[in-house]
Amino acid sequence: MLEVQNLTVNYRDLQALSDVSFKLESGSVVGLVGPNGAGKSTLLKAMLELISTQIGQVFYQGRPLKHQRQKVAYLPQRSQVDWDYPVTVENVVMMARTLHRSWWGRPSRQSREIVKQALQRVELYELRDRPIKNLSGGQQQRVFLARALAQQADVLLLDEPLNAVDKKTEALMWQIYDELKREGKTLLISCHEWGNTLDRYDQLLLLNQHLIASGTPRQVMTPEHIQLAYGATFEPSLQNNHGDRAEEELLFC
Ligand SMILES: Nc1ncnc2c1ncn2[C@@H]1O[C@H](COP(=O)(O)OP(=O)(O)O)[C@@H](O)[C@H]1O
Ligand SMILES: [Mg+2]
Repeated sequence: MLEVQNLTVNYRDLQALSDVSFKLESGSVVGLVGPNGAGKSTLLKAMLELISTQIGQVFYQGRPLKHQRQKVAYLPQRSQVDWDYPVTVENVVMMARTLHRSWWGRPSRQSREIVKQALQRVELYELRDRPIKNLSGGQQQRVFLARALAQQADVLLLDEPLNAVDKKTEALMWQIYDELKREGKTLLISCHEWGNTLDRYDQLLLLNQHLIASGTPRQVMTPEHIQLAYGATFEPSLQNNHGDRAEEELLFC
């Protein structure tokens, strides 16, 4: 089990996260939802202790996560990656294996095999020698998912992996998430455009600086909670177009 206790993050005079606490069960796919600027990326980074001004604690299986960092894989938000960096698909995925190098510094045979399998799983093995800048957006997201797979971590923190990806990538990613869940992994996946995918998550965390709600999608995405997270402008635009019943179908179709 993964447990976050009282996480608070300040950036200069802005409080991005305020006293956020929650627990995630192993073998679950959890969605982290909230509007732009809600603190989703900040929360994922703070779970990895990447922010110098954070307060709070994160435990995995009862021990501080910072002492078991290799058990956590992280897929950064698209905007935080330099896509022009001259590196091939295979070498991005190989980065996950830096802890597993042989004594003379080259990837072991086992690491090369694990990278190959990860690339095959996201259907990019044929493109392994391409520079990442020459891929489509969906393919680029799959490269980073392959890197997370190659790390063979227990916990995956994925920051908007489904944002603006093609249908094929979306379907493939969900298939892989379901497989990882069956393997007992814990996935925390942030998204700000949820469309009709919310009922695929076992649990949702609704965030806007504070944790507004946590539970099953139906427990969390109530009109009151949505109002609290997204403000007055959000819910009426759904209701004006579709009415109350349609809103429910929109969220859970
Ligand atoms: N490095 C930073 N320095 C200062 N402010 C930041 C920094 N990163 C994020 N913020 C601010 O913190 C808030 C939360 O940002 P973020 O975690 O990126 O939200 P989300 O991922 O939900 O869109 C926003 O107001 C954002 O402008
Ligand atoms: Mg973000």
